[in-house]
Amino acid sequence: MRAHVELIHEDDYIFHTGELPYGEGKILERRLSTDEEDGSSSLSLHAGADWGRSAGIVHADTEFYVVEGSMLYGGQELGAGGYVQVPKGTAMDWLKIREGSRVLHWREYGDCGFDPFTNLGEASAAASPESAEGVTVMDAGKMEWTEAPSVGPLTPLYIKLLHRDPKTGFYTRLIRAPKGWTDHRLAHHPCYEEFYTLAGKMAYNFGDIDEGTYCFRPARVKHGHFVAETEIDWILRSDGELTNWYTTDEWVKYGGHAENYDEHDGHIHPILSSLPVRSRSRGEWSGDGM
Ligand SMILES: [Fe+2]
Repeated sequence: MRAHVELIHEDDYIFHTGELPYGEGKILERRLSTDEEDGSSSLSLHAGADWGRSAGIVHADTEFYVVEGSMLYGGQELGAGGYVQVPKGTAMDWLKIREGSRVLHWREYGDCGFDPFTNLGEASAAASPESAEGVTVMDAGKMEWTEAPSVGPLTPLYIKLLHRDPKTGFYTRLIRAPKGWTDHRLAHHPCYEEFYTLAGKMAYNFGDIDEGTYCFRPARVKHGHFVAETEIDWILRSDGELTNWYTTDEWVKYGGHAENYDEHDGHIHPILSSLPVRSRSRGEWSGDGM
């Protein structure tokens, strides 16, 4: 189970030593979202020096996306926009993240466990036979934006699809909203939705989105009232096929009889127990969009 995180800026978070077993070099991580039941994690890696790891088998569905700097996968150089996806139980080639680089790293349905091997051939021979799916390597910098289908009279959003699991519909993609893109409605989905903002500015019901802001939104949490102040790009992940269900004219009713306190005193009245995790630079949430 992951907490609802909406909205944080990664610069508000502390660094931990990168939990990447069998790696060599120096890498730090900021923990944007974690699931302490199965180890799933969304991390922002900062390489203080070159960092590398041999070929091996990963214990979780594993992804890397280069925000800044560069990463080598089995000798293939990937700059900003480079992306690697490795299914759980699958062999991956050696990896090197260059000093000064920033890389987003996700592990899903498993922890940081890693079985190291001398080379990719040996790792592949030892990987579980059912893990027939291969590794995906993409360079978003060389891909074209495609128009996303939209419901209602909206300026379209644009997509670069990096990976989609054909069985579960789990996907990772880049999304671009043009300046002025707006939606007055609130949407919710049957699946979780997670984003990291790569560039641009947008206001919405949970606050102000800008470069480095992050959200992990569990299934069925409403969100919207979007106004893009500039063109804005995100990397976005979802654990299934994303259907938009829309709400307008929203309302919330909660409360009860105040026995021994002033229910109109903003400092002491009870708050909703479902408030999301927010970091200090995002300020208080107004409750818009409940
Ligand atoms: Fe959404």
